[in-house]
Amino acid sequence: MKLTEVRLALILVFLLAILPPAQAQKYIGAGGCASSNCHGGTSVASEKDSRIWGNEYAIWQLNDKHSRASKVLTDPRSKRMAEILRISDPQKDARCTSCHAVGSPEKSANDGVSCEACHGAAEKWLGTHTQSNSHAASVAAGMVDTKNNIRLRATNCMECHVGSKDRVVDHELYAAGHPDLNFELDTFTWAQPVHHRDVKPSAGNAKPRVRNWAVGQATGMAEGMRLLATRAAKNWPEFAELECYQCHHDLRQDSWRIQQGYGAHKPGSLQLNMSRMAVLRVLVSQMAPEMSSPLDAVLNEVALTISNQLSVAPIRAAEKAAALGDQLAAKFEKVDFTEQNAKAIVRALAGESNRIAAHGVHAAEVATMSLDSLTAAITGNSKEAQQAITPLYDYLEHPSVYTPGGFAALFRKAAGAAN
Ligand code: HEC
Ligand code: HEC
Ligand code: HEC
Ligand code: HEC
Repeated sequence: MKLTEVRLALILVFLLAILPPAQAQKYIGAGGCASSNCHGGTSVASEKDSRIWGNEYAIWQLNDKHSRASKVLTDPRSKRMAEILRISDPQKDARCTSCHAVGSPEKSANDGVSCEACHGAAEKWLGTHTQSNSHAASVAAGMVDTKNNIRLRATNCMECHVGSKDRVVDHELYAAGHPDLNFELDTFTWAQPVHHRDVKPSAGNAKPRVRNWAVGQATGMAEGMRLLATRAAKNWPEFAELECYQCHHDLRQDSWRIQQGYGAHKPGSLQLNMSRMAVLRVLVSQMAPEMSSPLDAVLNEVALTISNQLSVAPIRAAEKAAALGDQLAAKFEKVDFTEQNAKAIVRALAGESNRIAAHGVHAAEVATMSLDSLTAAITGNSKEAQQAITPLYDYLEHPSVYTPGGFAALFRKAAGAAN
């Protein structure tokens, strides 16, 4: 090698050492979306002028809790959690920031969960997406297709609202004071609140919100079971995968658990948290009845591995269940849910309300959000019909006085309003 070549080689080595590694796309930060002729309008643009609302930034900044997700890491609840977990600064610790500050690492303390947490890092599609009819080109450049790919949208929310390998709310975090994670795609989308125009019915998709709900249910099982398999491989038992109130309840002689009995489970053995699956079972019985027995079989396998063999982690069974969840989500993504279907599902949920309620408070919560979503779809967001759901939410505010019979009776009454 000649001297110049050696120098060049050295320079190259030096450059490789100081340059950042080939990286995923860069985040722009929410401020980059806030210009008044982009997403920083103060009111919803009329549909004939604009396909989008134009005030997404204001909605996010003022009404969407995601914009405060990083700031809550400094509130008293977070401070106490940090003391218990020996975290010196939750706003800097990945155990918290992995979900509470995403979308712009440099600006995250301010931004919280910003636009790019859901729509994807914008470096390469920022320019493209301002052109008209650019959606496909933007997606090709890295934008997350939250619009047309409901499974992807659901998986994206669930990365934080269910958890994943790198984003974890486990029993240690719950015991330190983290709120329970429970999620239903359609209800949470509206609660966020939405910042996009309602998707209009089209040929093959008569009730878009019912489809979103159904895909969300199946994806919830898939993501939940994947997380269970990951956890089971690392550290088993993980109490966050079990039904919470089997441990966290008063010991009473008139206990509904004793009255109800334990079915196939050994009395006093650990129970799988069925909150993501109890409603899905009913949905499957209505819209994909041929899948009902495979679903029951795989869920029983997970549940029995947990209750009978504490020493054997339910990894394989959970992986099978996740694959079935994926299959169901792919199927529901193409189903044309009609108003009749939605009403039949509501009736079936009411008919199965005792069984769902027996899986505990979290399953009852998912049933309530599901009824909320289906009722909105059936009645076109009728205020009266939705008010019928309020007693259910109120009832669930007090888990310690929950009884399956009490909840199921209220549920059947509320379900009547949608039919
Ligand atoms: C797996 C993702 C995830 C991780 C990791 C996580 N959180 Fe959360 N956190 C959430 C979600 C999602 C919610 C909203 C729950 C809901 O209301 O459904 C939340 C809610 C909260 C709330 C309540 C906020 C409010 O408005 O009252 C606090 C406080 C909180 N988290 C603190 C923390 C702290 C501190 C850490 C780290 C020790 C942490 N979180 C780690 C996802 C996460
Ligand atoms: C928590 C996730 C999340 C966050 C945070 C978020 N969005 Fe969205 N956004 C969605 C979802 C889901 C939709 C509905 C599906 C769709 O149309 O892409 C949507 C829709 C939109 C749409 C309508 C797209 C269309 O083609 O109709 C725009 C524009 C938009 N978001 C901009 C923003 C901006 C700007 C921010 C930040 C100020 C933001 N979003 C923050 C999830 C999010
Ligand atoms: C990067 C992580 C992350 C993603 C992705 C995410 N969220 Fe969240 N979400 C959070 C955190 C953290 C909170 C708690 C914020 C707070 O209370 O300050 C939250 C809170 C919420 C709340 C308020 C809950 C309450 O108790 O009031 C709703 C609704 C919500 N998210 C819906 C969604 C939807 C719908 C999606 C997908 C389109 C989504 N989120 C995607 C992290 C995330
Ligand atoms: C197998 C039994 C078991 C299950 C299932 C379980 N926990 Fe716990 N939990 C415990 C034990 C043991 C403690 C520690 C109590 C102590 O140290 O005094 C605890 C503590 C807690 C605490 C601390 C506050 C308190 O009053 O004890 C919270 C909050 C909590 N768990 C929430 C949950 C949630 C949410 C779930 C379900 C996702 C859950 N737990 C599932 C056994 C369980």
